[in-house]
Amino acid sequence: MKRDPVLSRRSVRRYTAEDVDDEDVRKLLEAAMAAPSAGNERPWHFVVVRDKETLQRLMEVHPHANALKECAGAILVCGDPSLERYPGFWPQDCSAATENILIMAVELGLGAVWLGTYPIEERVDGMRRALGIPATIVPFALVPFGHPAEETKPIDRFDATRVHEERW
Ligand SMILES: Cc1cc2nc3c(=O)[nH]c(=O)nc-3n(C[C@H](O)[C@H](O)[C@H](O)COP(=O)(O)O)c2cc1C
Repeated sequence: MKRDPVLSRRSVRRYTAEDVDDEDVRKLLEAAMAAPSAGNERPWHFVVVRDKETLQRLMEVHPHANALKECAGAILVCGDPSLERYPGFWPQDCSAATENILIMAVELGLGAVWLGTYPIEERVDGMRRALGIPATIVPFALVPFGHPAEETKPIDRFDATRVHEERW
């Protein structure tokens, strides 16, 4: 039976040495850009990193980025506040894009994980420096991807105490 890609999504941080096809990377990016955004403003850019040395440099910038060690590549989701139609919404738009990448990874049989970047200044600045990103663009989340080398199980996190019917 096909697993629901949203309910079965888990963070995957270990990957095999198998490469990921360009077509699959393209699908990850299509999923990102299909995300909803405030007023359809789409205030994002994506940096696709495949080069091992560059991935290593990013590991030095991010303190919780072991997933970069084995990944086939990583997508850095960046915000571009100058593209906003509704000021202040860009992080929500970029979150939706990031989650869409993770869900498409499940669909493709790949593994991926969200490495939080914004709003931690050292990570934002470090990634800007490592990848030559202009000061007006904000590195938001780094998403390593690859063919999974670990098995993850879906977890039911439904919590009825967090649901309020009609009123709080
Ligand atoms: C905003 C955000 C930041 C995160 N940062 C990291 C990170 O720096 N390193 C990491 O390995 N995982 C990171 N994660 C993944 C979470 O640890 C993971 O989603 C959470 O433990 C739930 O597990 P699951 O994704 O397997 O359901 C982050 C997730 C989010 C949404």
